[in-house]
Amino acid sequence: MEHKQDKLKEIISHAKEYGFVFPSSEIYDGLAATYDYGQLGAELKNNIKQYWWKSMTQMHQNIVGLDASIFMHPKTWEASGHLDAFNDPLIDNKDSKKRYRADVLLEEHMEKINKKIIKEVLKGKKRFGDTFNEAEFRATNPNILRNQAKIDSVKTSMKKSLEENDLEALRTLIVELEIACPLSGSKNWTEVRQFNLMFSTDMGSVAGDAAKIYLRPETAQGIFVNFLNVQKSGRMKIPFGIAQIGKAFRNEIIARQFIFRMREFEQMEMQFFVPPGEELKWYDYWKIQREKWHKNLNLGEDLHRFHDHIKLAHYANAACDIEFDFPMGFKELEGIHSRTDFDLKQHEKHSGKKLSYFDPERNESYVPYVIETSIGLDRMFLAILSASLKNEVLEDQSSRIVLKIPAPLAPVKVAILPLVKKDGLPDIANELANQLKFDYNYQIDLKDSIGKRYRRQDAIGTPICITIDHQTKEDQTVTLRFRDTMKQERIALADLQGILENELGWKKLLLNLA
Ligand code: GAP
Repeated sequence: MEHKQDKLKEIISHAKEYGFVFPSSEIYDGLAATYDYGQLGAELKNNIKQYWWKSMTQMHQNIVGLDASIFMHPKTWEASGHLDAFNDPLIDNKDSKKRYRADVLLEEHMEKINKKIIKEVLKGKKRFGDTFNEAEFRATNPNILRNQAKIDSVKTSMKKSLEENDLEALRTLIVELEIACPLSGSKNWTEVRQFNLMFSTDMGSVAGDAAKIYLRPETAQGIFVNFLNVQKSGRMKIPFGIAQIGKAFRNEIIARQFIFRMREFEQMEMQFFVPPGEELKWYDYWKIQREKWHKNLNLGEDLHRFHDHIKLAHYANAACDIEFDFPMGFKELEGIHSRTDFDLKQHEKHSGKKLSYFDPERNESYVPYVIETSIGLDRMFLAILSASLKNEVLEDQSSRIVLKIPAPLAPVKVAILPLVKKDGLPDIANELANQLKFDYNYQIDLKDSIGKRYRRQDAIGTPICITIDHQTKEDQTVTLRFRDTMKQERIALADLQGILENELGWKKLLLNLA
């Protein structure tokens, strides 16, 4: 546990030091839970977008893109249910005046009890050494059993209160468990209230004319309201999908864990429209496709798992998350939802416009059902950083910090390193850069020893360094040095483009998804 928290700190500080992610408005001491992507972060983010966009639109004949506006007609959010139901249960401490999510206070309480269990397990491990059987120990140790029963009881009561929207029961649970404000230690709590997560603002420049509008809390609704526009103008036949990447905003009360939970974030969502009755077949299809997309990056073994939703949202008839093993443990990275015809039907009702499709094969009209895949771009960024950042001890016992980002996603693809600053070697570097710049983001680095330059490139995840030396002038060869293996290879400049395409190009990565 301790080690994992250190890992998150390490990622945050590495991201800042090398220009991946900065705290937003830092010169004004920052703004809570908002971050800016720096020069390398912006590149990595764009590359993740490209991987997703290409895999969705280029690799599927029946999926097209969309870029809808962030502001939408306010009725959109009545129809989608966000105005009534997109809430968090909040409780205030009367003494400290601090506001908390009631369910998070309860979850933290359970986590404290769980820590006692982990401590007991560690004690057992120490006592029994090699013969330690954790499963048996957990099933028989009285302290663990007592604490596990406490956790189970809180979980059951919390789930029931949330499902029944029983805010009084939620408060009673907090009071009965004697949960104190983490800041002041006070147990003087207000009632629990529902708090809507949408940000609102006023539209229109004339006072009085202003209408309350919302910053979209998900990109999906922009797809639903454009369903017929895209279907008709693109002559799309069901089944087909619409993919979109864009910002979403949620007034999260507890926004933390770096870029994992923010108030302004980016989503990559795809809505796949299918005939009624076929939705669960397509739901299974998209689960497989999305798992493949994640695993294709080879970030490591056992980093992903599916988590089926126990309590389904009112519009869903199946839903699961793809969870990733972040430094804070397994958490939601992507959601896959079978949303039925709920959204389109709601928009029909609230707009008074028909959103049905005539299916020539079935010879009937219907409102399609929808399978949604929804992934947080910032969470994907964090997943890649956390799986890629390695502190390696080398054969000679020295160490290096390396970001093993999948090569096509790396912010800088190649570093061009003239061995010395003279003898015409920098000129050759510039000539080479002029050839490579059409395809690859590159850096030329002339400063310090070649070893130090390799380390700098390792730390930002550059997959290939090209070293130019005096021999280059004689025989048109250069040395390639590969980030992951640190192997070096002398090659003819004439072969360079082919090698780079194979190592860094999109095709190799996307081929496995074909
Ligand atoms: N349209 C469905 C939808 O929005 P969601 O589970 O609320 O579903 C989808 O969000 C994804 O968006 C999540 O799996 C997560 O990756 C990302 N996400 C949600 N809230 C976020 C936040 N506050 N900060 C960063 N990413 C977030």
